[in-house]
Amino acid sequence: MNRATVTLESQELSKTYYSTDPPTEVLRGVDLTVRAGEFLVIMGASGSGKSTLLYSLSGMDRPTSGSVALQGRQLESLSDTEMSNIRLTRMGFVFQQPHFLSNLDVRDNILLPALKGAPKDQRAAAIARVDALMERFGIAHIAGHGITQVSGGQLQRASICRALAGEPLVLFADEPTGALDSSMSGEVMDALTDVHRDGTTIVMVTHDPAVAVRGDRVIYLRDGVLVESRELGTWNAESAGRREDKLLEWLRKLGF
Ligand SMILES: Nc1ncnc2c1ncn2[C@@H]1O[C@H](COP(=O)(O)OP(=O)(O)OP(=O)(O)O)[C@@H](O)[C@H]1O
Ligand SMILES: [Mg+2]
Repeated sequence: MNRATVTLESQELSKTYYSTDPPTEVLRGVDLTVRAGEFLVIMGASGSGKSTLLYSLSGMDRPTSGSVALQGRQLESLSDTEMSNIRLTRMGFVFQQPHFLSNLDVRDNILLPALKGAPKDQRAAAIARVDALMERFGIAHIAGHGITQVSGGQLQRASICRALAGEPLVLFADEPTGALDSSMSGEVMDALTDVHRDGTTIVMVTHDPAVAVRGDRVIYLRDGVLVESRELGTWNAESAGRREDKLLEWLRKLGF
């Protein structure tokens, strides 16, 4: 593959916890290439290593061995400061439970990391970007609300805005719809589908086949081994039902 078309690449990625007896091998030699602009979905049973893979790819967790490169730059060679700078400027994160500060309103929660990462002369642009994102994802009207005064779906769309405020190269999402009902989950996935259409690379973990069908490709982990990978092609609303049926069939064969 042409180097310019690769955003993330792992080679022989392994993670072992030696604090247990016997040691727990959570990831075993994962080789993975994520294409620029790709929407990659990670699936697998609980405990198969999905979150650990996501955190290793994003440099939040250091692997025991193997390597991860972001646009050709090896993450393991970076200092903690360099790594956190890359996370702030090149990566966005969405978790199952959004971590927001309860003493700030929705807009200030979204703005906080954007302003931290922006040089002084780019602050006004960062603020304008956040307001445009909130408008786009339908949460501008709750800008001044406290975080306990909004729905789970609104809060998750706010965390997508926060993750995008720094214009990341890659958006990492760990079960972003895991705590939502199916209608709120659909809203959040519409937002992520939009982000993908803009060209942002997405790596997302999910248990839910109805959510996984939004991706371009699904990989399946079993006991820390990447056992299968399936290309789905570009998602559209018309083919969603058929895609889900095919994906379910594939997942059943894998023992999901
Ligand atoms: N600090 C630790 N020490 C020992 N084992 C750990 C530690 N952290 C995680 N593990 C183990 O690593 C394995 C993989 O965990 P991980 O969170 O990546 O799984 P997952 O696929 O994301 O699961 P889930 O679907 O439940 O979120 C689990 O068996 C877990 O018990
Ligand atoms: Mg997990």
